[in-house]
Amino acid sequence: MTRHLMTIEQQSAADLDAIYRLAKAPFNDETLKGQGVALVFERPSLRTRASSSTAVHELGGFATFFSDEEIGLDSRESAEDIGRTLSQMFAIAALRVRNHAIFERMRLATDDRMSLINLLSDVAHPTQAIADVVTIAEHFADGDVAALGGLEVAYVGDATNVTRSLAVALLRLGVNVTVGSPDAYQLTPGGPEDPGAVVGGGVLRRTDSPTDAVKNADVVYTDAWVSMGLEAETTRRRRDLAAFRVDETLMSHAKPTAVLLHCLPAHRGDEITNEVLDGSHSLVWRQVFHRRSAMVGVLRWIKEEK
Ligand code: CP
Ligand code: NVA
Repeated sequence: MTRHLMTIEQQSAADLDAIYRLAKAPFNDETLKGQGVALVFERPSLRTRASSSTAVHELGGFATFFSDEEIGLDSRESAEDIGRTLSQMFAIAALRVRNHAIFERMRLATDDRMSLINLLSDVAHPTQAIADVVTIAEHFADGDVAALGGLEVAYVGDATNVTRSLAVALLRLGVNVTVGSPDAYQLTPGGPEDPGAVVGGGVLRRTDSPTDAVKNADVVYTDAWVSMGLEAETTRRRRDLAAFRVDETLMSHAKPTAVLLHCLPAHRGDEITNEVLDGSHSLVWRQVFHRRSAMVGVLRWIKEEK
């Protein structure tokens, strides 16, 4: 059966275990030898494009990049027709989209002939979450994702697409997740990638106090206050989220051994200060490195079944 990665919540525990395992295995195979992977970006990207194209190359394949200016998802042509076209030439398409619903529309239009990978949508960023889990496991458990149960992860700031996928992935591994956000920026229930729907595993807590959120945290994580597409709200968001900036004072409320993660791009002086991002607690560059590990894991897992 054709495999897709649209959200973390849609993956079985066995699939996620396989992806984490395959992400860590040495790069010594040619799983994609001679095969193309379509990379479609409706929004800007550095890390995701870099990690996807290098992962495809690492596995012996080639990546073809399509920007929205060229193909016009739902403007020049419908997402369905773009999917039908790509599926004539590619077995795998990885997409960054404005609207998450595009994945299901493309899947149906192509009768599952082409694997779809979500490279960020408005509600989910699953390849980022896989990289985050691999980074956390490397630091705290010698790479063993199954040994992360009981860890405390605090997410502070705007609860974004990144927060949702991260929280679902961690809760399913038994990690406790606390989201510290003003009420209007908290996780919203329902929809795809809903951390509140995870049954069993870790405990999800919500608070509007940044210091309560990070108290006893092993990991402090933040993301942009102004996600792509929300630029018109910049002034209001800067005002509403100012107390949620991750600075040295906030980090001093976490465990002394706590590490700092950020999906990047960072907006230095907004959600995070230079001192914390560049400081001794920061694992952000290792986290970037594992974006490629994560893509290798996902691509190998997709090909495993075919
Ligand atoms: N973290 C992340 O997805 O970065 P890019 O937007 O640069 O790809
Ligand atoms: N929440 C951010 C993540 C960027 C990688 C955004 O959607 O813009």
